[in-house]
Amino acid sequence: MPLDATPIPIELRGLRIALLVSGGIAAYKVVDLASALSQAGCQVRVAMTAAAMRFVGPPTFQGVTGKPVATGIWPADGTPEPHVFLGDWAQLILVAPATANVIGRIADGRSDDIVTATLLAARCPVVIAPAMNDAMWAKPALQENLTKLRHRGITVVEPETGHLASGHEGAGRLAGASAILNAMVHGIRARYDLAGRRVVVTAGGTREPIDPVRFISNYSSGKMGFALAAAAADRGAKVTLITTANHPEHNGIDVQRVDTAEEMLAELRSQLRGSDLLLMAAAVGDFRPAKASDRKIRREETPSLTLELEPIPDVVASLAAEPAFATVFRVGFAAEDSKLDAKAMEKVKRKGLQAIVANDISRRDIGFGSEYNAGVLLFADGARHELEKATKRELADKILDLVLPRLKR
Ligand code: CTP
Repeated sequence: MPLDATPIPIELRGLRIALLVSGGIAAYKVVDLASALSQAGCQVRVAMTAAAMRFVGPPTFQGVTGKPVATGIWPADGTPEPHVFLGDWAQLILVAPATANVIGRIADGRSDDIVTATLLAARCPVVIAPAMNDAMWAKPALQENLTKLRHRGITVVEPETGHLASGHEGAGRLAGASAILNAMVHGIRARYDLAGRRVVVTAGGTREPIDPVRFISNYSSGKMGFALAAAAADRGAKVTLITTANHPEHNGIDVQRVDTAEEMLAELRSQLRGSDLLLMAAAVGDFRPAKASDRKIRREETPSLTLELEPIPDVVASLAAEPAFATVFRVGFAAEDSKLDAKAMEKVKRKGLQAIVANDISRRDIGFGSEYNAGVLLFADGARHELEKATKRELADKILDLVLPRLKR
């Protein structure tokens, strides 16, 4: 469907949208979109890279939007820098078309032209719509850059497959109007929908000491828990991340480091009061040494060693049984190697959960340590949602999309 023939969703009307155009042939298609958005009542300001201006002239965009087009980072006398102005002004940014070059420069955090500098100065959701040759699209370098952007919460609208300007057939055509507009609506909706909410997330594998230098743990990397915490914080929630792992810095996340299941339970008891949502992504151990040695076990003194293990109490089930936390919506996470749904639903009942995310650890391409995950989200009332393979950050947003309507007001 041509970009100007698609109805503009109500959520976008009246918004201040910065449209950042980089230098691909699909730039001409974006003129229609800028026109349709403007006619639907959006305020659209366009910024263009030098390469974009070789495909479409700034007067064309100025004509359809009724606003001056930013083409450089240097201000006219007495005016603010264009990228700072646009970054402050925009309520939503769309980069379309996004070339391989601009994607690489955004991923690197560069600010050497109006498009990259505006993105660095931005304070709003960002959607990018790549368009390029199919061989460029398929390159690991490009895909790794896109993965970085997805991890930062940027929405990527996948290109379509079809005839390309290079003469080839393949993936790389700028996505259709409805896909781009849907992504823009999602970006806007998701942005502040957790404002005023308190979310507690657990992450990583618990560590149970054998002696002062050794512990029993598991392969959990804590990446899924961090992705959930980052997504919730970006959507406006006040987030506490109780974790055994090390994570990158992220605005709006209060990190509490713990090691053992017992420490995690104690920290949860102090953080959970007044919270709306618990995302229990930590891989809490099931057994621990019945008695940890208080000094290092030495080889010479210990010809053979048998550890006696005792069961670890179920952390989330203990919390579920405490009246103080009865109103917290509790989501568990289960790694299963068979009969995913049945085993996960049994855990929902046994642990007093409202929902569970189950993923299949027999799949090699997802899960522990990976940047990707997939699975199913099951609610206690029987609702079932397939979670297609995606980056952990995308999956985290998807889980929040599905859980949010069920939180009490
Ligand atoms: N969990 C917990 N306390 C434990 C073990 C698990 O709170 N001692 C939580 C996990 O954080 C997760 C959910 O329970 O959210 C499911 O974890 P899982 O290890 O799948 O559950 P188990 O009861 O240990 O079942 P399994 O025997 O399959 O390991």
